[in-house]
Amino acid sequence: AKPVIVAIDGPSGTGKSSTSKAVAAQLGLSYLDTGAQYRAITWWMVTNGIDIEDPSAIAAVAGKPEIVSGTDPSNPTITVDGVDVSGPIRTQKVTSQVSAVSAVPEVRARITELQRSLATSAEIGIVVEGRDIGTTVLPDADLKIFLTASPEARAARRSGELQGADVHATREALIKRDAADSSRKTSPLAKADDAVEVDTTELTLQQVIECVVTLVEEKR
Ligand code: C5P
Repeated sequence: AKPVIVAIDGPSGTGKSSTSKAVAAQLGLSYLDTGAQYRAITWWMVTNGIDIEDPSAIAAVAGKPEIVSGTDPSNPTITVDGVDVSGPIRTQKVTSQVSAVSAVPEVRARITELQRSLATSAEIGIVVEGRDIGTTVLPDADLKIFLTASPEARAARRSGELQGADVHATREALIKRDAADSSRKTSPLAKADDAVEVDTTELTLQQVIECVVTLVEEKR
């Protein structure tokens, strides 16, 4: 059988990562978290004192860091120049800067190239999660899913993950990041015309996973 390529897009807090990892693990597919790649390049920019307010400064060094993603859904790793950054990329500092860095076209071109090469080398298939996978990175994906949920549900899930975080503050930060991601010029967060939209507001994670697994199986 030919490798199956699954694109899962949507805003933050819709359960993209949990769903994508579980679906990949259940079906024996590889997994790629593209948000982690944008977080990793942002971590490098912040660590190296690059002015995040200056897109040309970001563009000038976009090719410098070497970013390597592991694609095992049970152990998704990410390194920058050989350093494991799985922890540091989840900090508030990186989360608050990532939309600005990922809006820079040179950054997107670089990361998109990495994504395409990983997707085409997956032997059995791959689940790729992000914001622009179905529209830009892998427009020929076998299956495209667009996950949504109400802002309240998304904020509640995120603050649950961040343990003890304020739901209101989380909601504001999340809405701000989605607005930035949706309004940028280069490949914004958007649903592809041929994507299946799944509203997860009233669904459990298990139900979302089952729904996506069924859709993938229909394509194999
Ligand atoms: O999915 P996650 O919340 O980790 O993504 C972090 C950020 O990376 C997003 O807010 C967005 O700015 C950027 N991103 C992107 N394109 C993708 C995946 C993530 O611009 N395909």
